[in-house]
Amino acid sequence: MMNEAVSVSNVTKHFHQKTAVNNISFSIEKGEIAAILGPNGAGKTTVISMILGLLKPTKGEIKLFNRLPDDQRVREKIGVMLQEVSVMPGLKVNEILELFRSYYPNPLSMKELVSLTALTKEDLKTRAEKLSGGQKRRLSFALALAGNPELLIFDEPTVGMDTSSRHRFWQTIHGLADQGKT
Ligand SMILES: Nc1ncnc2c1ncn2[C@@H]1O[C@H](COP(=O)(O)OP(=O)(O)OP(=O)(O)O)[C@@H](O)[C@H]1O
Ligand SMILES: [Mg+2]
Repeated sequence: MMNEAVSVSNVTKHFHQKTAVNNISFSIEKGEIAAILGPNGAGKTTVISMILGLLKPTKGEIKLFNRLPDDQRVREKIGVMLQEVSVMPGLKVNEILELFRSYYPNPLSMKELVSLTALTKEDLKTRAEKLSGGQKRRLSFALALAGNPELLIFDEPTVGMDTSSRHRFWQTIHGLADQGKT
């Protein structure tokens, strides 16, 4: 399947006696926006962790762009915003963004990052630990975008965002999908 960004095949995850994910299969095409929905404890974060290669499936297989999730060539194409936001204390927002950009071969420019995430000039000069909850989410969104990834994965991205931030977030996501991002 040439156009698959994500392919999850018969994946099960056990934590000791507990079955967190029970034999699920789905695929996501390039350029698609897909959502995983379910109640608390349904196994969404566990699936995301396996897609990111942070956890190994007990059974089944996951491929990203036809390669295993821990392949370096895949990792360079992925941007992620996890459920628990942790920011690097002591550094200013612009310093953290520059640091993350330096990890990737083709990062987005600072200008693009700022315009996509609505970080303000003032935010950029602020130390990460002094940001509000919603501002931290914006920083975390900017970090997910820093490497100009082809595949973006978000775990509960709009939790803690106000109405206009949510609206803007989804507009940005649709704009990125129009550019072929998944
Ligand atoms: N490291 C772990 N060790 C043991 N059990 C775990 C571990 N991580 C998750 N679980 C269990 O697996 C199940 C699925 O958890 P998961 O975090 O994937 O759910 P979720 O759908 O993301 O929930 P939420 O909506 O609350 O974020 C839960 O019952 C949880 O207790
Ligand atoms: Mg979760």
